[in-house]
Formats: sequence, C-alpha cells, structure tokens
Amino acid sequence: MATDIERHLTKLREFHQEHLLQYWDEISDDEKLLLIKDIEEQNLKEVSTYFATAISSLDADHLVLDAKLRPIPAKVSASALNSTPEELETYQDLGLKEISDGRVAVLLMAGGQGTRLGVSYPKGMYDVGLPSGKSLFQLQAERILRLQNLAELKYKKRGSITWYILTSEATIRATREFFKRHNYFNLNEKNVIMFEQGMLPCFTLDGKIILDEKYRLARAPDGNGGLYRALKVQRILEDMAEKNIRSIHAHSVDNILVKVADPIFLGYCLSRSADCGVKVVEKSSPTEAVGVVCQVDDSYQVVEYSEITEETASLRDENGRLKFIAGNICNHYFTKDFLQSIADVHETELKLHVAKKKIPYVNQKGERVVPSTPNGIKIEKFVFDVFPFSKNFAVWEVTRKEEFSALKNNDSANRECPSTARKDVLELHKNWLKQAGATTVEGDVEISPLVSYAGENLSVEGKSFKGPIVL
Ligand code: UTP
Repeated sequence: MATDIERHLTKLREFHQEHLLQYWDEISDDEKLLLIKDIEEQNLKEVSTYFATAISSLDADHLVLDAKLRPIPAKVSASALNSTPEELETYQDLGLKEISDGRVAVLLMAGGQGTRLGVSYPKGMYDVGLPSGKSLFQLQAERILRLQNLAELKYKKRGSITWYILTSEATIRATREFFKRHNYFNLNEKNVIMFEQGMLPCFTLDGKIILDEKYRLARAPDGNGGLYRALKVQRILEDMAEKNIRSIHAHSVDNILVKVADPIFLGYCLSRSADCGVKVVEKSSPTEAVGVVCQVDDSYQVVEYSEITEETASLRDENGRLKFIAGNICNHYFTKDFLQSIADVHETELKLHVAKKKIPYVNQKGERVVPSTPNGIKIEKFVFDVFPFSKNFAVWEVTRKEEFSALKNNDSANRECPSTARKDVLELHKNWLKQAGATTVEGDVEISPLVSYAGENLSVEGKSFKGPIVL
C-alpha cells in the first residue's frame, strides 16, 4: 500500500489534486480501498482539460453571442399549428409505417439527479397524483404499447419499439428494480434496454476535485449529452444496428405530456430526410428560462436564456411574435447513422457546460458540510450540442398545452411542479373528451394511454363524466 500511495501521490501532484489524499491516515483500510478505486477511475488528464475548457466558457461575452444570433430559417422548419389535416396525416402515416417496420427506438434520458424536485429516487418513478397513480415511466410505457397497436392496426404488421433508457450511477439500480417490480409495464422485457452514462468529478471554482467524504470523491453524471459516449461504450449503437433501427426519438424523462415516439414528428423528419430534428414550443414570454433553437453563424444551436441579453430575448418580428421564439423542450429526432457519426467522430468536440451547485464537501476539520450556497461546479455535456454536426436539420413546432409540461421542481415553486403537471394532463384529457363530443366533464377525468395516445379512439358522444375516474 505504501508504494502504491506514493505512486498515486505523484500522479495527483502532476494535476494539483494531491489534497484528495489529505485524510489518508485517518481513514480505515476499507475506506482506503474505496478512495483508491475512485481515484483510479478518473482520467485525470482528461478531467483537468474538461475543467479548464468548461471554466473558460464562463467568461463568454453575451453581447458577442447576441450579435451572431439569427432565428431559424423557414426552410428547415414547420409547425403542427398551421399544417393541414392532410399533411399531418401524411406525416403520421410515415411514422406509423416506420414503427410497424420495427425501425423506431426511443431514447429516454433518465440519468439526471433531479435535485430540484428533491426526491431520493429517479424522477421517472414519480407519481404526480393522477387518479390512476401512474408514474412518469408507466405513462411513457403505455404510450409505447398503444402506438405499437396503432401501427399494427394501420399496416397489419407488428413492429416493436425498442426503449433504450439512459441511466446513471444515481438512477440505475432503482430504475431497474422499479421496472422489474412492475413487470416492465407489460412491454416485452427484451425491448427495454437500460444503459449507464459516465460520471465526472465535481470541482471547486479553482479546479480542485471536491471530496464528498474523506474517502469519496464528489461526482455527478456527465449531463444528458453523456448519452453519446454511453451509446458507444455500452454498445447500444451496435444493438441498434443489429435491429435495423433507423429513427430514434430522444426525450427527457420529466415531460409528463411527452408524445413518446410521436409518429407525426417521426414522419415529418423522415419526409425531410433529416438526420437530426428538434421539437419546439413557442416561448411563453421573453424571460421564460428555456433555451431557444436558433442559428449562430451558420450552425444550429440551442442558446440558453442565460447566455443572451434580455434585450435580445425581447426582440419581436413585424407580426409582434418573439424573434427568438423556438423554445427547446429536450425532444429530438436522430437517425441511427447520425448518432453513430457523433459517437465516432464528434463526441470529443462537444461543448462543456458549467453548473454552479451546492456540493457537499469535507471541511478543514474533516467534517462533512452541506453548503447553503453554491460552492463548486458540475461539468455537463448537453444533448442538443450535436446540432452543429447535422447535415440536414429539421425543426417541428407543436402546441405547448398538448405536448409539454415539465416536472422540474417541488410544489413550493408553483411552476413545472407536480401540481402543474397533474393539472396539464387532466386539462388535455378534458379537451380530448370535449372534442370527441362529451357533453360535460367534471372533476379529474384521466384517459389511459392504453385507450388513447393523442385523443383518438374515444366513443363518448353525448356522454357525461364526473371524476375522479380513469377511462
Ligand atoms: P435536467 O437538466 O432538468 O436535470 O435534465 P435533472 O436531473 O432532471 O434535474 P435537476 O437539474 O438536478 O433538478 C433534463 C433531462 O436530462 C436527463 C434528466 O434525467 C432529464 O430527463 N439527464 C440530465 C440525464 O439523463 N443525465 C444527466 O446527466 C443529466
């Protein structure tokens, strides 16, 4: 152990991280093994470069970025809001055909720590209090089941949608157990494939890796853009190739209204031969804290609200609409070939983002402290940073109240929280019933995704409903 420790110390000194061994003489033999394991797992050269690159992005000049910003050109975008019913049907049929041919996969990003929601289990397991008590995972699983049936009905051939679930050290075990306990929500277990993203150490602002315990490094998942490396390392791309998958719908776990494997979006992207697509909603106000999809120089990007000035965010066009209006909702289309090219060629070029966070640490007295203000940074890659590598990009606008309600916070925030998510689902379902001819809908009336994916298949003409009930 003594020579070992010298070897580690030399290596750590090279990267100015020797403080990681400062409690060596105070920890037990088992703890020593854990600490060495944590240190050995780090590619210190790589993470030091990550830190330097990420921290330099904090100095970016917002005015310089503002000057380069342009809205998305009309030629790459279309909207569900002004497409004709015939166009929507054409897209939908293309998407359903792709599903029926077994060429569709869903890539669910569920590796985040969900710190704002603040529960101790993965966000996908959360039940927002719908009459059915269904979790986000269950709602999504049932939408997949329903779509497979719709595609089969239309094309008389059953194709399976493969569900790849990106997890992390923070979520993998509980997610696996949850799916097992719920019998994979009646999906074929073979078509539900969980894989794990990487972790990165957390740093102080001056570049020291933080100790979470005397024998443990503080680490966090490497962001939802960690997906690309994980797709390769965990051989998911090989699995996709074997299954002949072409179209992939990637989305976050926390949008309760998400149209999983949305055939209209798939069909739209297929009709445009897009390699990379993004679904957007109209930004609700200039100050809404969502990223906007736009052009910077010649490439497509998501620019975070915090990266531009309020003045630019407030600009309007001649019709009075926000100039930068395309709100990003973490909802993407990728071809398998595009994902392969990212993993093989561009992964190392992805931007690194810095999030200042409250990261528990061990203080000078050797006590673990949970700080009340941000004291360090997490480095993250973002899923949308691959847009600049797209050769044929497509943007699809949808209606927020039909497709987007995120679960980010706990109820005290009053926005993007369990009660707003619950309300948005019930409101949508009420609208579906009204559109299908129901006379009155009172109370909480929920429609199972097994019955209806997007408002179809409701024989309710002249009927009245009083909740709480689940149809
Ligand atoms: P967010 O950035 O909202 O993070 O993730 P989060 O973990 O859900 O919540 P906070 O910020 O800690 O409160 C958007 C989507 O990306 C996934 C999340 O699971 C969510 O679906 N994600 C995020 C990952 O898969 N991996 C990550 O490392 C980070």
